[in-house]
Amino acid sequence: MSATGETSSSPDASPELFDKIVNLTKRRGFVYPSAEIYGGFRSTYDYGPIGVLLLRNVKDAWWRSMVQLRPDVVGLDASILSPPQVWEASGHLANFTDPLVDCTNCNTRWRLDKLDDPEVCPACGSRGTFTEPRQFNLMFQTHAGPLQDAGSVAYLRPETAQGMFINFKNVVDTTRVRPPFGIAQVGKSFRNEITPGQFVFRTREFEQMEMEFFVPPADAQQWYDYWCNERYQWYLDHGMPAEKLRLRPHDDDELSHYSSGTSDVEFLFPWGWDELEGIANRGDYDLRQHAEHSGEKLEWYDQAANERWIPHVIEPAAGATRTAMAFLMAAYDEEEVKGETRVVLRLHHRIAPYKVAVLPLSKKPELSEPARALAAELRGSFMCDYDETQSIGRRYRRQDELGTPYCITMDFDSLTDGAVTVRERDSMEQERIGIAEVDAYLRERLV
Ligand code: GAP
Repeated sequence: MSATGETSSSPDASPELFDKIVNLTKRRGFVYPSAEIYGGFRSTYDYGPIGVLLLRNVKDAWWRSMVQLRPDVVGLDASILSPPQVWEASGHLANFTDPLVDCTNCNTRWRLDKLDDPEVCPACGSRGTFTEPRQFNLMFQTHAGPLQDAGSVAYLRPETAQGMFINFKNVVDTTRVRPPFGIAQVGKSFRNEITPGQFVFRTREFEQMEMEFFVPPADAQQWYDYWCNERYQWYLDHGMPAEKLRLRPHDDDELSHYSSGTSDVEFLFPWGWDELEGIANRGDYDLRQHAEHSGEKLEWYDQAANERWIPHVIEPAAGATRTAMAFLMAAYDEEEVKGETRVVLRLHHRIAPYKVAVLPLSKKPELSEPARALAAELRGSFMCDYDETQSIGRRYRRQDELGTPYCITMDFDSLTDGAVTVRERDSMEQERIGIAEVDAYLRERLV
C-alpha cells in the first residue's frame, strides 16, 4: 500500500518542460485550479473542455484494452462511500498512514519519511525542533445520514480495489466467470495526502484504473509476469517513448505487507522517474481478510476436481489523472517552422482530445454552411472541433497545441471540385480528398 510515489532525479529530466505544460494546460482549457475564483482549493483541479476529453480517452483506452478486448475480464462500478468494516478488513484503518512531524520553531508539518535530514526542518533550517512522529491516516472520514455519531462513520474510498474484492462473490454468482478472470474498475479515489504536488501528479482527489485478476494459487507468478509485460506494453502502444518508460521491480523493503512481488511502471517526469502504475502479486490476502471479517466464504469451488481454494490476485493499479499528465509530457514538442516556434502535442490518436477539426478558409456563409455540415456529419463518428476565427495559420497552431491529428480545410475551390484539404498534425503534410471520402479516410487512420 503506497501512499505516495517515490521520486528520483535524472540528468535527462527537463524542469522547464513542467512549467510549459502547466501553462499550456491552463491556456488551452485542459486543467484549471479548482475554485479558482475563490483563490483555489488545496491542490485540487478541474478538467476543462479539452482536459475532460483527454482524461476520458485515457480511461477509454484502458477500458478497451482491459475489458472490451478481453474475454476474461468484466467491469464494475462500486460505490465511493463505504463503511468502516471494509477498511478494517483491508488493513487501511491500521496501516494506511504516513509518519507526521511538526516543527515547533516555525509550525510547519512534514512527512518524516520524505525529509532529506530527519533532524532538520526544510522551512526554517532549525535542528532538533521536530515533535515525536505520529501516524496520520490518509483516509477521508465522513458521516452517512443525519447523525454524526460513531455509528454513522463512513469513508471515501482511498482505492477502487476493495470494491472488486467485496463484490467477488456477487460477480462469481451472477456471471459466467471462472479463474483466471479479472474484475476491472475506473473511478475516483480520495487520499488526504500530506504533501500533494507536482500539478495533478499527486492530488487528494484523483482517478484510478484498477483490475483484480483472480488466479489459481499455483499460477500466480506466471500471471504476475504476464501482467507486468502487458501493462508496460500498453503505454508503449499508446505513444509513450521507450526511453521515458521503465518497469522497476520493488526491492524487498519497499513491498507492502500483502505483496510477494510488485513492479512499478515509471515515467521520466521533468523531476525524474516516478510511478504511473503498480502491478502487485497480492496473494490471497484480500479475499482471506474479507472472508474472515464478513463471515462470507470468498473462495472458488472447482466442481470437476471437487476442490475449494482461495484465488490469488494479481493487481495492475494505474492512476488515470497521473497517466493523462504523463501522456501530455511525453507528447509535448517544439520545432522551428518558417522562423517561428511550433508547439505540438504529438498524442496518440486514441488519446488526442479532438480527432479532427474542420476549418473553413472564410466565415462567409457559402463556405461556413457546408463546413458546418461536414463537421456535423463527422461528429457522428469522432470528436470534431469547428473553428472559423483568426487566420488559418493560427488555427492550425491552436489545433497543434490541442494535439488534433487531422485538420480539414474547406476553401472556395471546394464548392466546385467537391474536395477539401486534409492536414496531418505531425508531418504537416497536406492532401486533397473528396468531401464524400473524409469519413472513410479518418476511419482508416483513427480507429
Ligand atoms: N490498489 C492499489 C493501489 O491503490 P497505489 O500505488 O497506492 O496502489 C495506484 O495507487 C495508482 O494510483 C498509482 O500508481 C498512481 O498512479 C495513482 N495514485 C495514487 N495516489 C495518487 C494521488 N494522490 N494522486 C494521483 N494519483 C494517485
